[in-house]
Amino acid sequence: MERVKTGVDGLDAMLNGGLLPARPYIVSGPTGSGKSILATQFLFDGLKRNEPCLLVTLDEPPIEVKSNMGVFGWNLDHLKILDATPDVRAHKRQRSVIDVGTALDVRDMEDVSDIRQSSQIRALEVTVHSVQKMIKQEFSGRLEKTKERYKRIVIDSMTALKMFSMQGEDSRILIQSFMRFLSELESTTLIVSEHLDRSAIETEFFLGRGEIRMLKWVDGSTVRRAISIEKFRGSRFDDHVRPLAITPAGIVVYADQQVATTNGGGMKPGESLLEMRIIDDISNVLESALHKVEEAQRRQIPVRDLEVSLSRAMLHFQRKNYQKAMKAALACNSQLEQRLGVVPPPPAASVPPPPKEVAR
Ligand SMILES: Nc1ncnc2c1ncn2[C@@H]1O[C@H](COP(=O)(O)OP(=O)(O)O)[C@@H](O)[C@H]1O
Ligand SMILES: [Mg+2]
Repeated sequence: MERVKTGVDGLDAMLNGGLLPARPYIVSGPTGSGKSILATQFLFDGLKRNEPCLLVTLDEPPIEVKSNMGVFGWNLDHLKILDATPDVRAHKRQRSVIDVGTALDVRDMEDVSDIRQSSQIRALEVTVHSVQKMIKQEFSGRLEKTKERYKRIVIDSMTALKMFSMQGEDSRILIQSFMRFLSELESTTLIVSEHLDRSAIETEFFLGRGEIRMLKWVDGSTVRRAISIEKFRGSRFDDHVRPLAITPAGIVVYADQQVATTNGGGMKPGESLLEMRIIDDISNVLESALHKVEEAQRRQIPVRDLEVSLSRAMLHFQRKNYQKAMKAALACNSQLEQRLGVVPPPPAASVPPPPKEVAR
């Protein structure tokens, strides 16, 4: 299968030639590790190939993106930037988000009570929902006008999107559906995401087809950076941590070098081998369940109740309640299997799903 180049040669080498097309990937790492630069370099590589490219920016307004990236000499004139930064000072910019946000489909918002109140964004909510609509509009507008799909998309960042949006279980479901939405666009998508909490496994990590992790640490008086590939479904990849530098020409990855450090390489302190195995096992069950939810959505089989239980399993997982997490995830998984095995007639909203024996 053809590969999509990231625009960073060393990283493409680590990825066995590049990303697999039409899938969403996560770029993770702490602030200042180079996520935004990498993501922009990826878009610039697409622009050089005359591919339609889209940046959805939530962290910095477009003008700042352009000035930050200006130092690398990349021509971003043909880059379409959707501004989803919540900034009351810029009513005009914000309007597009609001317009789509208040449009028809508010069904998903009904039961969300805990909307974060920040003085800056109170009046102008940026929600997963409104951003999704914004992208959808742009995507189909483009398709209509030029008969071309966006080949590459960057969301910078999911972390900001979550902070501006709501908290709690519903946010997880919204993120799940947002990831599904992104998958269905069939663009090669980079989703920038910070690990807010080292131990927290964020929803998007399960649903991404791969994760590129960027690292940054201080070694004596020097800031060092490195990169690793944590997951890459459907492909072989280099699983070593490789050094990375930000140069005047952008990010360079030294795919043939080792990271020489006592600290930067050993990245999971405090996690015993056993714990890592348990984490892997639960992750696999959760991931499999999430993919079943995706399939159910595609086939229009109602599974919202199971999405909620799945969110609970993930919550246990994030709190390191591994036993509860595993139990809940397995239960969810088998219920999903049942439901996928039988396509029920469109049920009335309040009728519970058929019990196992009847469903067979
Ligand atoms: N031309 C440059 N040369 C070296 N380092 C740079 C250059 N431009 C920016 N940086 C560094 O890159 C980092 C910002 O990268 P960025 O991609 O914005 O990080 P993130 O999105 O992960 O927070 C900053 O720490 C800055 O010091
Ligand atoms: Mg950034």
